[in-house]
Amino acid sequence: MDDHENAPSNPTLGATLGEVVARRQVLKGLAGAATLALLPAGPGLANGHASTLRFTELAKGMDRTHHVAPGHIARVLIRWGDPVLDDAPPWNPLDQRAAAQEKQFGYNNDFLAFMPLPRGSSSADHGLLCVSHEYTRAKMMFPGATSNRKVTRARVEVEMAAHGFSILELRREDAWRVVDGSPFARRVTAGKTQFEITGPAAGHARMRTGADAAGRRVLGTLNNCAGGVTPWGTVLSGEENFHFYFGGVTRGAPEAANHRRHGIKAKSTFGWWRHDPRFDVAREPNEPNRFGWIVEIDPYDPAATPKKRTALGRFKHEGAAVVVNGDGRVVVYSGDDEIFEYVYKFVSRRAFDPDDRAANRDLLDDGTLHVARFDADGTLTWLPLAWGAGPLTPANGFASPADVLIETRRAADLLGATRMDRPEDLAVDPVSGRVYLSLTNNSKRRAGDTDAANPRVANLSGHILEFAPPAANHAAETFRWDIFLLAGDPGGRGARYHPATSAEGWLATPDNLAFDSRGRLWIATDGAPGVGGFADGLWACDARGEGRALTRHFYRGPRGAEVTGPCFTPDDTTLFVSVQHPGGDFFSGSFESPLTRWPDFRDDTPPRPAVVAITRNDGGPIGG
Ligand code: FEO
Ligand code: CA
Ligand code: CA
Ligand code: CA
Repeated sequence: MDDHENAPSNPTLGATLGEVVARRQVLKGLAGAATLALLPAGPGLANGHASTLRFTELAKGMDRTHHVAPGHIARVLIRWGDPVLDDAPPWNPLDQRAAAQEKQFGYNNDFLAFMPLPRGSSSADHGLLCVSHEYTRAKMMFPGATSNRKVTRARVEVEMAAHGFSILELRREDAWRVVDGSPFARRVTAGKTQFEITGPAAGHARMRTGADAAGRRVLGTLNNCAGGVTPWGTVLSGEENFHFYFGGVTRGAPEAANHRRHGIKAKSTFGWWRHDPRFDVAREPNEPNRFGWIVEIDPYDPAATPKKRTALGRFKHEGAAVVVNGDGRVVVYSGDDEIFEYVYKFVSRRAFDPDDRAANRDLLDDGTLHVARFDADGTLTWLPLAWGAGPLTPANGFASPADVLIETRRAADLLGATRMDRPEDLAVDPVSGRVYLSLTNNSKRRAGDTDAANPRVANLSGHILEFAPPAANHAAETFRWDIFLLAGDPGGRGARYHPATSAEGWLATPDNLAFDSRGRLWIATDGAPGVGGFADGLWACDARGEGRALTRHFYRGPRGAEVTGPCFTPDDTTLFVSVQHPGGDFFSGSFESPLTRWPDFRDDTPPRPAVVAITRNDGGPIGG
């Protein structure tokens, strides 16, 4: 990543805001009654009091530890290697074993969901924490390791065990603690956990392998990034960069174009394929078709088989934002996190039944997937990926609905969806029903290739879009859309926020999004050091009213880390966050020379990805 984005020869902030207001007035005219609020554009807001968020802003910076806004406390809850299952052996970074890692907290925790106990309650002091473990990096995990590609079989098995999910039972006493010996405690891994494949692609010939002639069972889940929570009390998780794990040569094989479209290369990121033939696409060309899905896990039933829900499409799912529509149908929004990829929405055929959990169990197996097209007049059109309609026919290689789901990206190409600046997370405002999408960056967007929804050339800072469903109908085929903010230095090229945004308050590379129960938007970043030289962290703002898009800095991670998975208890008094890859990511740091040894700070211990629980000193809601 380079840092040449914010060249100084740009319109002033005032001029930029003037353009915003002018464009919003155009939108208002086109839309009839305005569905989107106008940005406050006048003076008198520069003191920041327009915001409903009352915390004192944290100063930007980057050092060996994490920091939270004054009046709050951030405590480490659980770290890589800590016990999840009762009989987990003590963690020993110098002698790691798969059998131990399978019982310990995995690596690079990302998504977090707090699920109250008992199920269906709004308990804020007892619940399950569901945590994804996105990926491993050998160079940070193992002494002497040089790359993910050159790794021994024994270490591959540790890596597989460090992927997946952890389910923990938590109680808040004087502080949050993991309950020892919980019957809910569970590890889901890449190597050992059986998943069932469900929905229209289950059993299809392209889902069958040597180990699974029926195409209905698959071992493990990969690269679980963000996720979501269903109203029937399960968690959804996106299988994101699944291509990293596959290697071998596919040239000329029937799946070669499909592998290429998803970035599978002979020179793979991970060396797993040299040790486990199912990751060698020359031997098992269909195995990659069994990854790239949304998976569903029932944390309240540790014996339940997790499901891969093929009706939600196959791509590099960042996460899954779930909302129950007014008519009871379930809508799931999901971004495909790669430059020039798309944003999707699934609408279930049947309605959610709040009184019958079993009836909701397979709701996500039947429905319609759509992909987004953003027009310059503020119209967002959801194009159905319906087999047999338009170009999605046998003439174009789609012989069945399963083909459309297995090659979702190619189907979306043919429908003319809008190519986005790396769609990451989506979140639905619980108060207004509007939907927010973070677009993290796209250094490859060139002049002549911009559009209204992706308006910047070489977009290194990213932006956030806002969607307004008509009359809060998330199943509608047409929404309105607008730009919520354009990230980066407000003094630089084309950034756009509330005019009172401070020097600490501007952000870059938005990734995970979360709402608190009052409808304030919390934004986690992934890549701020490369844009602004400050650590990744959390920023918060109002989504509506006078404090709209007035982002304020709340928390930052230690050097090398990305902050992910922000998640509130139902009463907003605790905010859980993941600190992922502290001490270094793909371009920096190693086991021997990390950028920090957070959170243990022991010379003989590498940095450890960890979950942090943030509370307020007076016990009140986070952020004031
Ligand atoms: Fe795993 Fe899109 O971040
Ligand atoms: Ca992410
Ligand atoms: Ca990211
Ligand atoms: Ca990440």
